[in-house]
Amino acid sequence: MLDGRLLACAELCNPGRAADIGTDHGYLPIYLIESGICESCIACDINEKPLLSARENIRAAGLEGRIETMLSDGLDSVEPDGITNVIIAGMGGELIRDIISRAEWLRNSRTALILQPMTKWDVLRRYLYESGFEVTKELPCRAGRFVYSVLRAEYTGRQPEHECDLCYLYGGMVSPVTEDGRAYLLRQAERLGAVAGGIGRDASRAAEAEKYADACAKLRQRCEIKER
Ligand SMILES: C[S@@+](CC[C@H](N)C(=O)[O-])C[C@H]1O[C@@H](n2cnc3c(N)ncnc32)[C@H](O)[C@@H]1O
Repeated sequence: MLDGRLLACAELCNPGRAADIGTDHGYLPIYLIESGICESCIACDINEKPLLSARENIRAAGLEGRIETMLSDGLDSVEPDGITNVIIAGMGGELIRDIISRAEWLRNSRTALILQPMTKWDVLRRYLYESGFEVTKELPCRAGRFVYSVLRAEYTGRQPEHECDLCYLYGGMVSPVTEDGRAYLLRQAERLGAVAGGIGRDASRAAEAEKYADACAKLRQRCEIKER
């Protein structure tokens, strides 16, 4: 059974063919085929060891004919033909950004990017915003004690009309209407508050600290409005 993060990734996938970058055990591509969401998948990893475990799990599921395994640094060895989804989950936002930025073909396709950053979500959201990738949906989810958000983006070449402020960089498009959404936003508000507190100790950075504190208050407010 997939954890909440990977289930949310699967929920955001288009039908067709998926490339799962950093597949590790290969559970996600197996699920995508078994649940009928995708016809075929590529399970990629930069390391041999996880790829061996993915191959074993794919063989045990009898899906060798539908899931190809590939040793690849990001998308470097992946042929774009027919790929409708690229999934990059369980990595830091900076690494996800670097993988996307090296794959020029993503700018000439309608491929959906399904991204689940563990850290540096602000770096990733800023990169997508400034590089013409429009985030069309975010799905908050829970795995163990932690809440995450999975982003779905696609290349439009345009910069979105909304602002790219701290509220967006930390809270994204997550809505507080669900329990997971609210928990995610409150956790991100807590992080903004912690940064404000840290920076605030340095008197020369008071204005910057205030911006973080404001964003923290705004995210909290977004949650309160939905409570009424
Ligand atoms: C923490 S696991 C995440 C596994 C799975 N995607 C998930 O979310 O549960 C990260 C995986 O990404 C792989 N990885 C790290 N850097 C990579 C890169 N540049 N290209 C492809 N795979 C990478 C690692 O070998 C590891 O198997």
